[in-house]
Amino acid sequence: MAQYQSFPDATGDSRTLEKLKALKLPDLAGRDFLDVGCNEGFFCGFAKFAGAQRSVGIDRSAAFIARARQRFPACDFLERDWNRLPEGPFDVVLLASALHYADDQAALVHRLVDLLAPDGLLILELGIVSAPENAWIEVERGIDRRSFPTMEKLREVLDGYAWKWMGKSVSQDGDPVARHVVHVSRRRPLAYLLMQPPAYGKTTISGELFPAAGIPVVSGDRVIADIARGMAGASRSLVEVVSRRYSPFRIDEAVRRVFDAGAGPELVRLWANEAGGRDFALDAYIPPEQHGQVETALVGLGYLPVQLSWNRAGPVLLPAEKIEECADAFYRTMGMEGAPRPAPPRPATRGFVDRVALEGDVLRIRGWVFDAAAGPPSAVAVKFRGQRYEMDTFEAQSRPDVQKYLDLGHADFGFSATVRIPGVARLEDLGSEFEVIMPGGWRVPLAKAVAARIGCHPCRPCFHCRAPQIAGGVWR
Ligand SMILES: C[S@@+](CC[C@H](N)C(=O)[O-])C[C@H]1O[C@@H](n2cnc3c(N)ncnc32)[C@H](O)[C@@H]1O
Repeated sequence: MAQYQSFPDATGDSRTLEKLKALKLPDLAGRDFLDVGCNEGFFCGFAKFAGAQRSVGIDRSAAFIARARQRFPACDFLERDWNRLPEGPFDVVLLASALHYADDQAALVHRLVDLLAPDGLLILELGIVSAPENAWIEVERGIDRRSFPTMEKLREVLDGYAWKWMGKSVSQDGDPVARHVVHVSRRRPLAYLLMQPPAYGKTTISGELFPAAGIPVVSGDRVIADIARGMAGASRSLVEVVSRRYSPFRIDEAVRRVFDAGAGPELVRLWANEAGGRDFALDAYIPPEQHGQVETALVGLGYLPVQLSWNRAGPVLLPAEKIEECADAFYRTMGMEGAPRPAPPRPATRGFVDRVALEGDVLRIRGWVFDAAAGPPSAVAVKFRGQRYEMDTFEAQSRPDVQKYLDLGHADFGFSATVRIPGVARLEDLGSEFEVIMPGGWRVPLAKAVAARIGCHPCRPCFHCRAPQIAGGVWR
């Protein structure tokens, strides 16, 4: 029996060490490996050496299998024809320099792909005839005549799989056909993700690209709207999370709530269902912090996520809160045009609370104050029903309107602070026992509208109602 594989103690026809390098095997640690037509077991021995959990070789030659068992006792060698393949799945399957021995080469390739685990890889090392046609070409090799595919034929055989030509393999003396290495895996359906913010052109771009290629575009917004209406197939808990405070103008908030509630994978499954598990494009704004979760859920469904991102053309859009803040500041500035200029501020602490809002169970308080030295505020606190609460957050803000009106050298009087007051679920619960105080104990009065909003009752005059009122944010 001729020596085919080469070992340190036996030189065969094949330069096996070089072939091993040309195969570009993936990381085999912990993987299940199968070599079909394994000969003396060189590649099985390597797989075990590289940490494979299971390394199996099959060959129809009893003599080669006997030698393989001797060389690599930690591997499993089976003396059998590849018509009787061992039970899978395998993470990596190798068929090297052997496809041309198969009666039906295409059928053998398909059967080997069927043996793969979902993320498995088939490595083919084979002769490919350099000719333009799509054909199996019979080649005289000296020892016999065998059929080898052209590249076009291989393309046809591998149609429907994900595959890549990895490079040339090593040649053998007298080779009539060049040998190549090709990696083959099952093709995962693709999910093209267009998750950019609103006004980036997602709908235009997806509408121009995908329908023409026969790929459906799933509108994330529409599915969310369907869920809010009790879409069939959505769990009750998902419907509940989406429809709570649902607004067609704040789909981003609904998506955020869904992911925060741990229902992201279900939402992603409903999107994929729209495409029947096939390729699709998702047109949905997803907050960036949730992109990873969308991709993980898609991978779990067997998809390959492909994220598309681009820069928005045109002026930068501002977040809603920023627009609101800027507009309010402008409006207040206008209200002060033509107003009598006040006397310079007395050397005492001055300020006003001009906004109080509940964000969940967090109370946000905005206003402006300056201390005796006309310096910026360093802190404020809250008193409610006799108890003092320190702020959880305190952020300085610019107040050009106050600066302009009081003719001051800077605008750093504003603040935006948050505090949690147990038991306050509505602004109206605050009432007249609510006060904002400066570090020295000075009470910061509330603007009239704020006092009304928190339920200060005008017929029970309190500090706020008696406090001098403001025009455009300053004392009168
Ligand atoms: C050219 S050798 C390649 C050996 C090894 N794969 C390598 O590249 O070093 C082809 C091997 O395929 C085996 N073989 C050929 N036809 C087979 C079949 N129908 N079933 C199983 N093994 C087969 C041969 O016994 C031989 O060991």
